[in-house]
Amino acid sequence: MNRFLVLRDAYGSVQAILPDSKRHQFEEMIKSLNYESVLRIRGVVRNRGKARNPKIKTGDIELEIDDLEVINEAPPVLPLLSDQNALEQTKLKYRYLEFRSEDMQQKFRLRAQVTSRLRHFFEKLGFVEIETPTLSQWTPGGAAEFLVPAAKPNLGRFYTLPQSPQLYKQLLMCGGIDRYFQIARCYRDEATKSDRQPEFTQVDFELSFTSKEKVMHLVEELIKTAWPESLNEYEIFSSPFQRMKYEQAMNDYGTDKPDLRIPWKFENCPEKMASVLKTGVEEKENFSARMFIAKGTGRHCTEEQMSVWKKLIEINPHAQPFDIFIPPNQTGFNNWDSDFDTNELVTKYDIGPDDAVVFCWGETDGVQRTLGFLRNYLADTIDLRKKSGFKFVWIVDFPFFEKKQGNFECLHHPFTAPIKEDEIRLWKMEGLENIIAQHYDLVLNGIELGGGTIRIHDPKLQRHVFEKVLKLPTKHLEPFFEALSYGAPPHGGFALGLDRFIALLSQQGNVHTSIRDVIAFPKTKDGKCFLMNTPNEAPPGTLERYGLQIVKGDEKQNLV
Ligand code: AMO
Repeated sequence: MNRFLVLRDAYGSVQAILPDSKRHQFEEMIKSLNYESVLRIRGVVRNRGKARNPKIKTGDIELEIDDLEVINEAPPVLPLLSDQNALEQTKLKYRYLEFRSEDMQQKFRLRAQVTSRLRHFFEKLGFVEIETPTLSQWTPGGAAEFLVPAAKPNLGRFYTLPQSPQLYKQLLMCGGIDRYFQIARCYRDEATKSDRQPEFTQVDFELSFTSKEKVMHLVEELIKTAWPESLNEYEIFSSPFQRMKYEQAMNDYGTDKPDLRIPWKFENCPEKMASVLKTGVEEKENFSARMFIAKGTGRHCTEEQMSVWKKLIEINPHAQPFDIFIPPNQTGFNNWDSDFDTNELVTKYDIGPDDAVVFCWGETDGVQRTLGFLRNYLADTIDLRKKSGFKFVWIVDFPFFEKKQGNFECLHHPFTAPIKEDEIRLWKMEGLENIIAQHYDLVLNGIELGGGTIRIHDPKLQRHVFEKVLKLPTKHLEPFFEALSYGAPPHGGFALGLDRFIALLSQQGNVHTSIRDVIAFPKTKDGKCFLMNTPNEAPPGTLERYGLQIVKGDEKQNLV
């Protein structure tokens, strides 16, 4: 039997050696022991001298065992260790075993380190950490919320889990806590995606007598302070983060979350090309024909790949037709009976044999969005979004409202203030779509990292936005309007998505990562936790306590 064994804990591993004097005794104890069993060992740390192993961190030393005790024996096969390709479901079921990997250990230690630095940053500047309720009130608009039923004496009523501490932090401003922060748990009952979980964490803050500029500066300082030393090679703090108006982002990249590591911008198709494209279109008003040149992607734009993209894009209700022109095979123009000379295009834009011209035509808004998706898909063919590196950009000057099916909705939330010059138009209800909000979003590598606004502090204007513009019920907001009426200071704030931030940091900026990897016990995409089997049936007797009854199948239809 081998005289050596490797001991591992959360900080690394070391070689232990059975001493000649007790070799037989210890061999008996460990010969049938499985990997991952827990041992307590006392011994002497010795220099390995010539036998040192420079390839491992602790290769200079070894532990000569004096005393050995088996504390907890592991079974011969552990679920994850035996299966490198374990299904996601299995991984989540044995999440605690995943934690034994070095990668997971690093991610969660990084998360703790960054969170601690964020906390210290706020404390140093006099921000007060205050916890706000989780059993909360619903807010109109926004994401779907989780309901929590109340028992007697509040039978038939519900709490709501907060989407964010928005109302509470504004109430704290009304209460004269002029600098608040919280590492806050938030809940949104929305589809789980790689950058979305039903339960997530925000680094939330608010301050009085502030401005958009001050909040944005504070966020940049916050990120600088939290930045891990291991990523110092990325020089991102030499100047303030880039800024871009919402309108420019939509026009150049078809999204308000552009990944600026991708160098391609949209532009109008040359006139002749646009007129060919317009011929077959019925709705000529609000027509655009736009394109971008995706350098070095031509060989990846196979017919098979294109049809996958088409299917993905068609899911979007605003999708418009698109095509891709690659000079050598002239695809993208095959079906056109026109005298448009593609050589003009090739010469004008210096298009090489491996470049792809991606173009889209039809209703302007849909064209922009379609090209926005394609920009990311084509970038993925040459791994531009997987690249390490960090490109921050502030998106500013958002419209306050957008019209959806005839109704106005907010691009951020209804507590946002318009820019001063547009306030009068908001009162007069004129040109509502063109009102600019004091709203700023921070985008990192095409992911929305956080968002915030300067708030409305005038109770009359706040009521006007809810009642007259958004036409939302305000009964539950009366206490909030009242609070604003007792002398609320002007205020504003921001919330950083901590999970998204850590996910990007832990992958050197690669966006093909999931926030699930940096949440200790995450949910699957349909909101389940396989480890604890949640959501689960209610414990016996509790439904009665809450006056609830589960209605299934046909019975449900009878109720509707
Ligand atoms: P917002 O809704 O933009 O703003 O949220 C702020 C940030 O929180 C993160 N985030 C999420 N992260 C993981 N899973 C989710 N389901 C999820 N939803 C949001 C994102 C996002 O940018 N109260 C306002 C902030 C303010 O105005 O101060 C708010 O919640 O990173």
